Amino acid sequence: MALVEWFLVLGISAAAVLVHGQPETQSPFPQYKFIFLFLSFNLFTVSIAGDAMTPTKSIADGQTLISSGGTFELGFFSPGDSKNRYLGIYYPPDKIVVWVANRISPLGGSTGVLNLTGDGTLVLVNSTGYIFWSTGTSNAINPVVQLLDSGNLVLLEGTSKTLLWQSFDHPTDTLLPGMKLVRDFRTNLDTYLTSWKSSSDPSPGDYSYKINRNAATELFLWRGSDLIFRTGPWNGRGFDGIQATKIANLFRFHLTSNEYEATYSFEVLDNSVLSRLVLNETGMVQRFVRSKPNIGWHPYWWHPKDQCDEYANCGANGVCSTNYLPACDCLKGFIPKSPQKWTMRDNTDGCVRRTALNCSSGDGFFGLQQVKLPGTSNATVHGNVSLEGCKDWCLKNCSCSAYAISEWSGCNTWTGDLVDIRVFTEGGKDLYLRLASSELGNDYFLRGEFKPACKTISTHYKESRGNEPELPLFDIHTIRTATNNFSDDNKLGEGGFGPVYKGQLEDGENIAVKRLSKDSVQGIHEFTNEVLLIAKLQHRNLVRLLGCCIEGEERLLVYEYLQNTSLDCFIFDRTRSALLNWQKRLDIILGIARGLLYLHQDSRLKIIHRDLKTSNILLDQELNPKISDFGTARIFKGDQIEENTIRVVGTYGYMSPEYAMEGIFSVKSDVFSFGVLVLEILSGKKNRMINQAQARLNLLGHAWRLWTEGRCLEILDEAVGCAYPESKVLRCIQVALLCVQEGSEDRPTMAEVVLMLGTESALLPQPQRPGFCIATPLMERDWSSGNKITVTIEGR
Ligand SMILES: *[C@@H]1O[C@H](CO)[C@@H](O)[C@H](O)[C@H]1NC(C)=O
Ligand SMILES: *[C@@H]1O[C@H](CO)[C@@H](O)[C@H](O)[C@H]1NC(C)=O
Ligand SMILES: *[C@@H]1O[C@H](CO)[C@@H](O)[C@H](O)[C@H]1NC(C)=O
Ligand SMILES: *[C@@H]1O[C@H](CO)[C@@H](O)[C@H](O)[C@H]1NC(C)=O
Ligand SMILES: *[C@@H]1O[C@H](CO)[C@@H](O)[C@H](O)[C@H]1NC(C)=O
Ligand SMILES: *[C@@H]1O[C@H](CO)[C@@H](O)[C@H](O)[C@H]1NC(C)=O
Ligand SMILES: *[C@@H]1O[C@H](CO)[C@@H](O)[C@H](O)[C@H]1NC(C)=O
Ligand SMILES: *[C@@H]1O[C@H](CO)[C@@H](O)[C@H](O)[C@H]1NC(C)=O
Ligand SMILES: *[C@@H]1O[C@H](CO)[C@@H](O)[C@H](O)[C@H]1NC(C)=O
Repeated sequence: MALVEWFLVLGISAAAVLVHGQPETQSPFPQYKFIFLFLSFNLFTVSIAGDAMTPTKSIADGQTLISSGGTFELGFFSPGDSKNRYLGIYYPPDKIVVWVANRISPLGGSTGVLNLTGDGTLVLVNSTGYIFWSTGTSNAINPVVQLLDSGNLVLLEGTSKTLLWQSFDHPTDTLLPGMKLVRDFRTNLDTYLTSWKSSSDPSPGDYSYKINRNAATELFLWRGSDLIFRTGPWNGRGFDGIQATKIANLFRFHLTSNEYEATYSFEVLDNSVLSRLVLNETGMVQRFVRSKPNIGWHPYWWHPKDQCDEYANCGANGVCSTNYLPACDCLKGFIPKSPQKWTMRDNTDGCVRRTALNCSSGDGFFGLQQVKLPGTSNATVHGNVSLEGCKDWCLKNCSCSAYAISEWSGCNTWTGDLVDIRVFTEGGKDLYLRLASSELGNDYFLRGEFKPACKTISTHYKESRGNEPELPLFDIHTIRTATNNFSDDNKLGEGGFGPVYKGQLEDGENIAVKRLSKDSVQGIHEFTNEVLLIAKLQHRNLVRLLGCCIEGEERLLVYEYLQNTSLDCFIFDRTRSALLNWQKRLDIILGIARGLLYLHQDSRLKIIHRDLKTSNILLDQELNPKISDFGTARIFKGDQIEENTIRVVGTYGYMSPEYAMEGIFSVKSDVFSFGVLVLEILSGKKNRMINQAQARLNLLGHAWRLWTEGRCLEILDEAVGCAYPESKVLRCIQVALLCVQEGSEDRPTMAEVVLMLGTESALLPQPQRPGFCIATPLMERDWSSGNKITVTIEGR
């Protein structure tokens, strides 16, 4: 609040005294500006210029015009670390420049003066009269220049108030409300945004943002003469390729397109909000908003946003979707033109038809839902025609390759290749693609809807492994039926990123379905992570992924169903734990160790699981363990040893000290969790305070104490009974203690663990004290919740 008031004071003083020196570059400390203002009050002469000037006045460097509402100011400034002087229009409080007069002719020093001649030329000169910029107008009577509160600098004839010139006709890198991008087809006038070269150089950079009209009217972003992004066709309210639903309430967009001209502009519907659209020097179109009581500008959206925004990223007849990896796929019925290059993710050659069209024998159409319509350079508009009528148009012209209906322009048809199509999860249009009849209707999962998801993922998977079968795609209706429409009765629990349901397919096979919560932001990453990771993994001690389903908002993973649920339901359960004799427990420990060894080194990828715990170990009918939940797993590159993370995910009690406290994870942090698991399996107790008498010791501390006192067999769960080989149990406990040692370098690798557990003869080192054996208050709190938590470590 105080800050806002200070800014208000600042604004008022600025309006009242007009004492500015050079607009500063943004200071991180607003107070300094305030102080600066008072200093300058004493140092500079005060001149009250108001918002207008006539030929009797001029504006020298250090003086300004301020619009009547105080929103904009015209004056001299030096951008970034430049020493050059420019005349421009900016927002007074933060000196954000929206227009520059002499962007290609900077003044070398502070001798610039803006003069208005008696016959109506607005001219920027230095003290020797050299002209740096001019409006080129003349022959006016009693001219007047005014800075309007919209940010428009206008030059009017005094008596008739005829507009002679306005800055809104000469945009630089910023579009303000009321300002228009114009393409005049009669005069070839083209009014567009150009980026600055750099933050210190407002001269025109490589990027431009222009209105364009082929069959559709849309905005194009250019780098030099290369088209790099298109907004998609205008739909009457906005552009189809810009997904910003919330914009609707705050803005109104205007587009006109007739035989003479095409124009684009926007207005802000809320009086208390300022907004600007900027083409920045790295070629991003950014929309910013700010409330009038200035608490800073917020980026609202920007484009291009992702690789699918890049124009024609997937080549001709390709389709892009950010939901899948790789993002590019061929349209249905099309195959890569250069398969080799396509495999190497070089999509420039695009795709070609698998089966040639045969117009005379009746081609058909295939509907793609929710897409950005392809570029319209070879499209034709047929006006207000029904969907059926549009289809007829396309069908009877053998060169028509697709059609679509737009609420703005009506029926659109395309000939030849289709470029720059992307899939949206909301919004977008339906596109009907002409295909040879033999390409239609023979494909189970593509019929009627566009669903490249699992196909693409499995293509990727085939590429990387070469020989495994494809990962099947499940239809949402199949899953709904199988899970009783995700009924609560079928719910098995909550997984890493959403609920897990039990289901039964029509053939009787049981499945477990993991459903990504719609509101899970992290979830979508974890989902993709899990699909891509686990699709590549096959091991008897890892849970098997049967397929996935990506449809609309739904993201589902389908797993084999393991009927005996997870390990925690056995070892921490008084009745069921009796089913686990010594041999069974050892088998489970060995199974987990082998699964983990596979992840760490045998799968050709190096995968750190990061969230190993009893509830993530599932058991099949024979109680064979299967590691599950790869949502937080990470792949390490060949020789990578450890990694730091800001987001520590995992479960307290299982996390190694270096991971929990410093965010460092490696295979050795998984080894630590494995050690905790082994002690839990042997003792049947959770790694938290295990009895009141030893309130401050957790399971690790307890085990360590028993070990040092030479009575470590006491740790064994009574449910194990008496029939066990003491030496093997001791070996097992010793291995577990080696795994939970404080120093990660002291812990064995999983390969060593498997060896130590499997042979009687290997000599084991003496374990050092474990990490985390005291239950501190912090630990107690986290353990008692028992849930997965995320710790954010500051300052990394
Ligand atoms: C600009 O205006 C100043 C002050 O009115 C005057 O001294 C100067 O001669 C003018 N320069 C030009 C080129 O008109
Ligand atoms: C005015 O600008 C011209 C051209 O840049 C330059 O040659 C001249 O020295 C400048 N005069 C002053 C006083 O800076
Ligand atoms: C340009 O805009 C993008 C997107 O908002 C932003 O990440 C980038 O930093 C901006 N570049 C500059 C130089 O402001
Ligand atoms: C097109 O279809 C007709 C009828 O099936 C067939 O006779 C003709 O050979 C086909 N043409 C081509 C180019 O395949
Ligand atoms: C399009 O045609 C339909 C029926 O012919 C009519 O109801 C509708 O108003 C027309 N729309 C426009 C924008 O002309
Ligand atoms: C088919 O469509 C193209 C492009 O719209 C057009 O140039 C051509 O004349 C049409 N052919 C026929 C037979 O209507
Ligand atoms: C449009 O048609 C022209 C002429 O047939 C062709 O050269 C060009 O590649 C086509 N453009 C697209 C995007 O298909
Ligand atoms: C399943 O649930 C959804 C949303 O809860 C509902 O719209 C749909 O009608 C249900 N379908 C069946 C077959 O029960
Ligand atoms: C595993 O689950 C099956 C089916 O529910 C059950 O018959 C069997 O007894 C379970 N095994 C154990 C060891 O609990």
